[in-house]
Parts: sequence; C-alpha cells; structure tokens
Amino acid sequence: MAKKILLLGHTGKMGTAIKEVFADGYTVTGLSSKDFDAMNFEDVQDTISRHSPDILINTAAFLGIDPCEKEPERAFRMNALYPKALSELSNKMGFLLVHFSTDAVFNDSKGDFCTEGDTPCPLNVYGATKYAGDCFIQALAGRFYIFRVSVLFGKTPKDNQFVEKMLQKAREGQKTLRISGDIISSPTYSKDVAAEVKRIVEAPMPHGVYHIANEGKASLYELMKEITETLGLDVKVEKASYRDFPYVGIKNTNTPLKSIKINALRPWKEAVREYCREI
Ligand SMILES: NC(=O)c1ccc[n+]([C@@H]2O[C@H](COP(=O)([O-])OP(=O)(O)OC[C@H]3O[C@@H](n4cnc5c(N)ncnc54)[C@H](OP(=O)(O)O)[C@@H]3O)[C@@H](O)[C@H]2O)c1
Repeated sequence: MAKKILLLGHTGKMGTAIKEVFADGYTVTGLSSKDFDAMNFEDVQDTISRHSPDILINTAAFLGIDPCEKEPERAFRMNALYPKALSELSNKMGFLLVHFSTDAVFNDSKGDFCTEGDTPCPLNVYGATKYAGDCFIQALAGRFYIFRVSVLFGKTPKDNQFVEKMLQKAREGQKTLRISGDIISSPTYSKDVAAEVKRIVEAPMPHGVYHIANEGKASLYELMKEITETLGLDVKVEKASYRDFPYVGIKNTNTPLKSIKINALRPWKEAVREYCREI
C-alpha cells in the first residue's frame, strides 16, 4: 500500500512543489491554514491523529524578517514551539518528520557558503525562531529530516514573496525594478528541492540536517535580472542596496548554502530557465 503523507502547508511555495513531486508513489493529503491552526497545538494533534500519516512534511511557518521582527511571540510559537510539538507527536505517533529551515539561521561572518558543519548564529527574530525550531527537532524527534533552503523561486498560488512581488510589478507595467545587489544567497528552485527531498527520504539517507541548494550564489538583483530577461519582460532591473528600502530587522546579507553531505543541485541559472518555462 502507498505510504501516507500529511503535507502541512500545501498551498505555499514548497508545499506546491512537494505535492507535485510526491504525487507519484504516495497518498498525499495537503492541509493549510483553512484546515488547521499551527499555532493551536491541540488542533495540530487532533488533525494529525485523524490522518495517522507515515510521513509528515511540514512547510508551514511564519516567514519574513520584518513580519517576525514585528510579531516575535507569534514567530516563536509558529517557528519554534510548533516544530517542538511536531517532534513530540512524531515520537508518540511514529511518523517520520520532514521539516524546512532557512539560511537565515546563519550570520554573515563566514563570508562564504554555509554548510551543515557551520554553527548557526542568527541575526534576526526570523532566523532565531527558525533555529530554535531546528534545535527542538534535533533534540526531541527520533526520526527527522530538516532541510535548510535559501531564497526560493518556483510555482506558487501566492504572490506574497520577493520573486512574485517583483514579477507582479513588472506585469502591472512598472518599467524599472530597483533590487538589492548586496543580499547574497543561493537562489533555489522549489521543484528541485522537492525532488531532492524525495531522493533523500527514499534512500533513506541518515536522519539529520541537510542544506539543499542549486549550485552557485547570487544577489537578489542578479536573480531578478536573470528571471525577467529569461521571461523576456519589458522591464529594466537596476542594482540598489537593501538600505535604500525601509526595513526593520537586521538582515543576513551573505548566507548562501552548500552541503557537505549531498551533491549540489544543477546550477541556479539552469533551474531559472525551467522555472520560466513552467510559469
Ligand atoms: N520561500 C522562501 O524563499 C524560503 C527561503 C528559506 C526558507 N524557507 C522555508 O521553507 C518553508 C516553506 O516556505 P514557503 O515558501 O513554502 O512558505 P509559504 O509559501 O508562505 O507557505 C506557507 C504555508 O504555511 C501555511 N500556514 C501559514 N500559517 C499557518 C497556520 N497558522 N496554520 C496552518 N497553516 C499555516 C500556509 O497556508 P495558507 O495558504 O492557508 O496561509 C501555506 O500553506 C518554511 O519553513 C520557510 O521558513 C522558505
């Protein structure tokens, strides 16, 4: 019988990719905030009990540096205490816990790719609460994978993230997009991440933390220039500094990811070409 996956956060960017990739060979049930509240742990327990999954893939989180900075308690509950609750439930109910984390757990001090061997030291509430979630899972869950990713591009029904917001502006006729050239990460295609997650889970590779990234690093400016040019959009992408725009939390500005456990995925520009064909 096909293994049962409960996908919490199926309407998001990672959830959309996971749903597509795991449709082959698994029975996937996707839930979002319409179906359960990740901030209410009784509701979380009841929801998971009803589905009794073999594998629980959690992509639900409170995202963004500034939103988390403005609502730190909500950020801690969602990004740290909710994964803690999932860890405890995974032991009690026997499911494999698959969770996502972020390059924002690192600061800029290395000035180079951050690997699983580097010690996190977050600069902002988002990074700190996500790192707390990683720590709870590592300390408590018996069977788990934590996949850290950097800025994602990929199909999504939402338009609340960086790439989608910029594309929206271009489609509305804005002629120039000013974008930070001083925030460096490893842009990564959500579909490539989902395929790699499936490979690791099925292998199965040893439980633990993995960095998953397309090969290379780039600024947000370089990423959007590549996307808009590949799509042939009539818009000029201009290099700016993140300091040119209002912001609240301290930004991690140089935290590209690399793995010392698995091979890098294809180069990010190659992945952008497929993404642009897909949308
Ligand atoms: N996107 C990136 O660039 C990026 C970069 C680094 C790390 N990550 C990590 O990757 C993971 C997935 O991110 P994503 O981009 O897929 O996020 P996303 O597109 O914002 O999706 C978030 C999902 O979580 C659900 N959700 C939010 N609050 C909820 C609540 N209180 N109860 C239940 N469900 C709730 C949303 O449901 P609704 O649609 O109903 O709101 C949605 O399905 C996160 O752990 C994030 O930290 C993402």
